[in-house]
Amino acid sequence: MCGIIGYVGPRPSQDILLAGLSRLEYRGYDSAGIAVIDGDGGLGMRKRAGKLAVLRDDLASTPLADGTTGIGHTRWATHGGPTDANAHPHLADDDKLAVIHNGIIENFAELKSELVGEGVTFRSETDTEVAAAMIGREYARTGDLVSAFRAVVSRLEGAYTLLAMHEDHPGLVVGARRNSPLVIGLGEGENFLGSDVAAFVEHTRKALAIGQDEIVAITPGGVEVTDFSGAPVEVEAFEVTWDASAAEKGGWSSFMAKEVSEEPEAVANTIRGRIHEGRVEIPELDGMDEFLADIDRILVIACGTAAYAGMVGKYALETWTRVPVDVELAHEFRYRDPVLSPRTLVVSISQSGETMDTLMAVKYARSRGAKTLSICNTQGATIPRESDAIVYTHAGPEVAVASTKAFVAQITALYLLALHVGRVRGAIDPVVAVEAVTELEAVPGKIARVLETEQTRIEQLAHWMADTRSVLFLGRNVGYPIALEGALKLKELAYIHAEGFAAGELKHGPIALIEPGQPVFVVVPSPRGSGEMHKKVVSNIEEIRARGARVIAIAEEGDVAVLPAADEVLRIPLAAPMFEPLLAVVPLHIFAMGLAEAKGLDVDQPRNLAKSVTVE
Ligand code: M6R
Repeated sequence: MCGIIGYVGPRPSQDILLAGLSRLEYRGYDSAGIAVIDGDGGLGMRKRAGKLAVLRDDLASTPLADGTTGIGHTRWATHGGPTDANAHPHLADDDKLAVIHNGIIENFAELKSELVGEGVTFRSETDTEVAAAMIGREYARTGDLVSAFRAVVSRLEGAYTLLAMHEDHPGLVVGARRNSPLVIGLGEGENFLGSDVAAFVEHTRKALAIGQDEIVAITPGGVEVTDFSGAPVEVEAFEVTWDASAAEKGGWSSFMAKEVSEEPEAVANTIRGRIHEGRVEIPELDGMDEFLADIDRILVIACGTAAYAGMVGKYALETWTRVPVDVELAHEFRYRDPVLSPRTLVVSISQSGETMDTLMAVKYARSRGAKTLSICNTQGATIPRESDAIVYTHAGPEVAVASTKAFVAQITALYLLALHVGRVRGAIDPVVAVEAVTELEAVPGKIARVLETEQTRIEQLAHWMADTRSVLFLGRNVGYPIALEGALKLKELAYIHAEGFAAGELKHGPIALIEPGQPVFVVVPSPRGSGEMHKKVVSNIEEIRARGARVIAIAEEGDVAVLPAADEVLRIPLAAPMFEPLLAVVPLHIFAMGLAEAKGLDVDQPRNLAKSVTVE
């Protein structure tokens, strides 16, 4: 939530800041602003409510004097609505200091009353302006921006990334982070700070990850990182594995459309290098065999779509490892008293690697003695850095707020993990393991087939259903989390009521929602292998049809049993039951996107949301 960029170097900074903000806009898009120290050493600032385009137009019509030191911010509002005044940067020290912030300063009210008592006046309702005033007050005493930061951060509670610059110090941007993301981009004679590497990947792929509770000062010639007490710290260098073009729309109508089209690659790239002669061997888990052989419980924690991936993964983990698995929403997990032991493996799943609820749950699990493994899509992110082991998904940058290609990559990573742990524990028959690997390797081609054969028809269907006010989703077994995912996507993108149910639950209440014309998507299990479940789901279809539902079935090619009962049948290729979720979800992603587009909505930046939820 909120995107942050800082730049120091020889080049005019405004275009660099605006380009960086446009790559970070998925993190928050209710207002944006930049500040620049101009060539004469004066600080200029402009901020506007609305999307980045509003700020861009404003700057185009009334430009700021440009300079080579700057900071920029794109906001997802927490304290104070999305207005010009609440947008960042916030100024202090007679408007010579500019500050931007991501996170929440939980004790801001108390700090604000202290400052008000000293006669400070505020121009916004934000917690950020309080931090700015405090940094300004400290700076006025010492004239040293880094030591001003050090004095202030020790008084702030909550989660924050703060960046600041002062007109007395052109060529210097200072940042600090606690429980909120910040990475450094290393250029030639120029350096960058960003909420994530997207801020600067156009200019450099060399990056440094800043740890918790650290302060960084960048100048054109160097980077200095210290902890909150001022002691120098070593930082971890990494090379960004994708280039700027991977985060461009590249001719697609939306990032989401592009990312759905990349679902086959996301699966293929996540598998790559992890299968050797038909066996799954995840190199990142080398040296963990003894621990994995001894675990007695797996707990999966995540939020939103990532949690649904976890629910799918549970079936594979239990089947192939024979270890009991629980899946829990990260924000619920932390606030009870969960039973954890050194034999518990806690698997977190996060595309961004920055979701605050998940991060806090990981830290909590670790503090209670469990081992943590992060399934993550973003290099240098906080959750993998806070975990004992990492299995990266290789979906490439996901820009649209709705998670699509990351979802299929997360399921793939969980299946690989299940096959790896099952092998280490001797829990899976080697023949079954080889069959599973063969199935998994076939998934990218099968997803590509769904896209080729069904996309246009699903888009048409979505178009016809543009006025629909409510859609229900049913699934059973591995299809149940897919029903939940279909419903979440529709709420998130098309702003209509949507609910996912376990098909078996229907008669325990939800069937009362069925009235004539009610659209219901049903994820139908294959009649092969899971014949009994198939029959039960077909009966469910008959039951809702009898009450007037309009049934859209997602069923495998050749399944004729669904034809008499369903109004529409969307086809997926044949796959073993465990692998059907990776195919069945594709029509649902396309449908939600199509319906939102048919309603004229912004599918990449749905209202009230942000890609990376870095506040609790
Ligand atoms: O970055 P994460 O995977 O941790 O994000 C978790 C959820 O916030 C995310 O999946 C959210 O539910 C998506 N917007 C759904 O499309």
